[in-house]
Amino acid sequence: MILQVEDLNRSFGGVQAVKDVSFTVREGMIKAVIGPNGAGKTTLFNLISGTLRPDSGKVMLEDREITGLPPHRIAGMGIARTFQHIRLFPGMTVLENVMIGCHIHGKAGFLAGMLNLPWTWKEERRLMERACEVLGFLSLDDYMYNDALSLPYGQQRILEIARALAVGPRLLLLDEPAAGLNMRETVQMAEIIRKIKEQGITVLLVEHDMSLVMNISDEVLVLSYGEKIADDLPLRVQKDPEVIRVYLGEEDAQD
Ligand SMILES: Nc1ncnc2c1ncn2[C@@H]1O[C@H](COP(=O)(O)OP(=O)(O)O)[C@@H](O)[C@H]1O
Ligand SMILES: [Mg+2]
Repeated sequence: MILQVEDLNRSFGGVQAVKDVSFTVREGMIKAVIGPNGAGKTTLFNLISGTLRPDSGKVMLEDREITGLPPHRIAGMGIARTFQHIRLFPGMTVLENVMIGCHIHGKAGFLAGMLNLPWTWKEERRLMERACEVLGFLSLDDYMYNDALSLPYGQQRILEIARALAVGPRLLLLDEPAAGLNMRETVQMAEIIRKIKEQGITVLLVEHDMSLVMNISDEVLVLSYGEKIADDLPLRVQKDPEVIRVYLGEEDAQD
């Protein structure tokens, strides 16, 4: 198992956002995390990536415990993530946006970069090569020198993934990568996620688009009010009465 989550808990005031959640992620798979808004999906990602500390429970990356470590340590150990809302740096090119992601997580580190230590020059070059390679992999290399924010929204979402991949993760956490994308772009996103898997990178994915989830996932974990209600193969999850009830309830609520 590349990732093991055991009895994870986190509350905000009176709200238990993640409640006794346990699951595993096998190396090389795509696992989806689904559930209605407010189910605790983003909080779960924050707990795994170190953005938030759990109240209790355990997160293991292979045989190492990473519970409560700061985000840069966890990134350095091989977990990268994207955010539900795009976080690109304005006034910077596509390439610079990918490279700054590496700087924050790269071996040279932010501090060495700021102090302009001599050995960082070599590191800088390595990062640049890595960034170009990733931009080529995601077909963004034609736009390398364009302002990141001049890209169409769909490509900005791909750029966020490029930035996460440039760090060289073994496990990639994607928080709603298809949010706001049209049908054509969603199909393209599915292809990208498949290609990432083919590179041997394990993917944990929060997503609302059910056709995307059911098409590409090897397993689907369902959260409702912070609790795990299903964790199984996509076809089984689709037929699970409890899951159907939760989703029908959500549709009723929107009417
Ligand atoms: N930083 C926070 N402070 C207070 N409440 C939060 C915070 N983050 C999440 N929550 C609450 O935790 C619950 C789960 O939120 P979230 O993890 O964002 O759900 P999801 O990503 O599944 O939509 C919600 O009730 C949300 O309001
Ligand atoms: Mg969320």
